[in-house]
Amino acid sequence: MNQPILEVLSGTMKTPPPIWMMRQAGRHLPEYMKIRATAKDFIDFCFSPDKAAEVTLQPIRRYDMDAAILFADILLVPIALGRSVTFEKGVGPILNPISPEDILSMPRDMSVLEPVYETVSRVRSELSKDKTLIGFCGGPWTVATYMIEGRGSPQKQKAKHFAYVNSDAMDQLLSDLADASADYMIGQAKAGADVLKIFESWAEGLAPAMFDRLVIKPTQQMIKKIREAGITVPIIGFPRGAGLNAVRYAHKVKVQACAAGTDMPLNEFRGLIPAHMATQGNLDPLALRIGGDVLKSAVGQVLSTMSGPHIFNLGHGVAPDVKIENVQAVIAHVRGGDPKYV
Ligand code: CP3
Repeated sequence: MNQPILEVLSGTMKTPPPIWMMRQAGRHLPEYMKIRATAKDFIDFCFSPDKAAEVTLQPIRRYDMDAAILFADILLVPIALGRSVTFEKGVGPILNPISPEDILSMPRDMSVLEPVYETVSRVRSELSKDKTLIGFCGGPWTVATYMIEGRGSPQKQKAKHFAYVNSDAMDQLLSDLADASADYMIGQAKAGADVLKIFESWAEGLAPAMFDRLVIKPTQQMIKKIREAGITVPIIGFPRGAGLNAVRYAHKVKVQACAAGTDMPLNEFRGLIPAHMATQGNLDPLALRIGGDVLKSAVGQVLSTMSGPHIFNLGHGVAPDVKIENVQAVIAHVRGGDPKYV
């Protein structure tokens, strides 16, 4: 096993820790913007294996990250379930909101996702053997919030309300999403993904019993199906912002690592999760935008509070206004080099 990230995910502590960053491929990179400008729209970009493979590899070439993350989006699965998904500049994703009646007869065409598997296999064949390729999907609850609300919203009030008052429809939707997402993850693993990650980005603000029902149960269903298909690659769960609910997630969902959002105290979290479980995170993305001494001190805090098998990352994604020099400085700092923060 010559991938540092796979060693950590098998429960081995590495010093320095391996590093990659969520949204490392994206608008802060001029080489990304160049390819982005050639795509018809964001969805078309995700479904173009030549372009998607190229932008997946860009952060590895520029930064020598320990992992590449597949360039795609968590909102591709709703397309396979017959929903319309578009991305509007300055607004974000727009979907046709789903009704309880729609959920009763949701179509499914997983073949629309095949270009993504082609991207995975192209990237794996070009990536050096010591680098990890991470495939991903959204957590069923997080994807459901977009399908119900039709767009991103700060509090997810509409989706939470729907979960209480249309509980049968909600449970059906989550079960269908878990099932389709499992197939999607199986497809990515078969195409060459070394690790799979489940982005439960909207795990915050749920009452504990709702967290169990909306997050833990469907994620267990998804992972059971992935394992029953004979897929053995490690899985990273990311119940972002879940607070103490993340501890129950770490014990009940069979993931090999639990990624921490910005607000999670890594040292305290370590004491509450299974002994050999890996952790990942959780540099404040705002500190990465600010740079200078703010960033230096924030990196120092992550390095001093992490323990055991850990993968260095952000608590959420790289923002478009992040300076390339600061990403380079964080990597140098983590690897024990001479960081030049700006
Ligand atoms: O991390 C990576 O570099 C891999 C690729 C990746 C993208 N989206 C590319 C992307 C991953 C892992 C995602 C996951 C994703 N997508 C999540 C979960 C993680 C998170 O950020 O919380 C969510 C909630 C989405 C849904 C989504 N996609 C939103 C809300 C937006 C719009 C926000 C924005 O930045 O405009 C996207 C678009 C998106 N996905 C972009 C990228 C690089 C920006 C699109 C562009 O180039 O204009």
